[in-house]
Amino acid sequence: KIVKILGREILDSRGTPTVEVEIWTDFGGYGVAKVPSGASTGANEALELRDEDAKRYNGKGVSKAVVNVNTKIAPKLMGMEVQDQLELDRTMIALDGTEFKKNLGANAILGVSLAAARAAADELEMPLWKYMGGVSGHKLPVPMLNVINGGEHADSAIDFQEFMIMPVGAKTFSQALQWASETFQALKSLLKSKGDITAVGDEGGFAPHFSWAYKKEDLASFQAKTPAEVALDLLVEAIKKAGYKAGKDGIMIAMDCASSELYLSDKKYHFKKIEARTGKKWSITTDEMIKYLEKLVSKYPIISIEDGLAESDWAGFTKLNAAIGDKVQIVGDDLYTTNPKYIKEGILKKASNSTLIKLNQIGTLTETIEAIQMTQKAGWTAVVSHRSGETEDSTIADIAVAFNAGQIKTGSMSRSDRIAKYNRLLQIESELGKNAKYDGLASFYNLNL
Ligand code: PGA
Ligand code: ZN
Repeated sequence: KIVKILGREILDSRGTPTVEVEIWTDFGGYGVAKVPSGASTGANEALELRDEDAKRYNGKGVSKAVVNVNTKIAPKLMGMEVQDQLELDRTMIALDGTEFKKNLGANAILGVSLAAARAAADELEMPLWKYMGGVSGHKLPVPMLNVINGGEHADSAIDFQEFMIMPVGAKTFSQALQWASETFQALKSLLKSKGDITAVGDEGGFAPHFSWAYKKEDLASFQAKTPAEVALDLLVEAIKKAGYKAGKDGIMIAMDCASSELYLSDKKYHFKKIEARTGKKWSITTDEMIKYLEKLVSKYPIISIEDGLAESDWAGFTKLNAAIGDKVQIVGDDLYTTNPKYIKEGILKKASNSTLIKLNQIGTLTETIEAIQMTQKAGWTAVVSHRSGETEDSTIADIAVAFNAGQIKTGSMSRSDRIAKYNRLLQIESELGKNAKYDGLASFYNLNL
């Protein structure tokens, strides 16, 4: 039974406040969880409660959410069975009483929800993945490593937010990490040799400027070869330089366009960074965006595209999925915000073939599990994901294994807030021993490859 719950304000990887919760049980169970935070957030995410007090942390303090943990949630859950995750989460959802957790804050609720799962696992002396996954969890996920950052995450030249590598041809998870690390280092030396910057963005990927790729900074040059194509060329070169194949039996590429950030009220996609560099407007329609993505897919070994269109462009998503969804994973992030209600709609509309799973978009472990299972039942893939603002908390690693997600998206090969998840997966891989399974390319079971 829960005997003590304690919330506090801590800092995330951007130095911005976030919520930490500790829980103790009468059987000596202890659990602690730290909540992540996004930058390019979806419009329908559960509410991240911030103080909006300009005198502290530019309004980003979370002391109200912490007070909610300590004075509203804690008294309600005191004495409850810590292993009854469903009842704990239901109680908090009812106590909040709003669809998007606007009263207590999803950051307050998620902190308690995850700390409870950890305390329960601790009480049973089980690793978290085994406690959550029971007998079924045994798959190590293919990592999706964000090695080139753009969009809202970095002052780079690229409007698309993330360019990721996926070692689909590796035989084990640890081998996948080795390939990824070597490719990351190869990319770094390539950038250096071109005189580009090797500083990293929020998720630990490089944030290059690409001045060397353009003789003239005019619209025609950028249209002839977009910064996304320069990034993709570089990735292919880095993969080869590291000694691997760029393709199905080696390393493939995934992108998160985070297109909601590009979509403006004129219903067009604006390449703002190109516009800033050329001083000229450049925007394209949904159909043109789909054509552009199709072109990238035909030119490069791309296996996955997340948020290729904006969250409000549902009809566009259905078109995109019909056009290339047989051979490319089409992932909905902002589109679904890990909310079973929107995922259900996406399944009906065939809007994608995969769901990104971010715990704090929905706010409880129970609803996260529901989102994963609904996705998998539809024959889609689920990609468990970090946020751009993270901490050393590695719960998502355990979740990916527990529910056999097959894929995890948790940043680049730098920054401890990202590496913490990979290191946790290495631990789980050795805990699983000979039962550890790494599916590689077969993780994309719903594609025609
Ligand atoms: P966010 O970015 O955490 O800033 O929302 C990650 C993503 O868009 O996948
Ligand atoms: Zn995304």
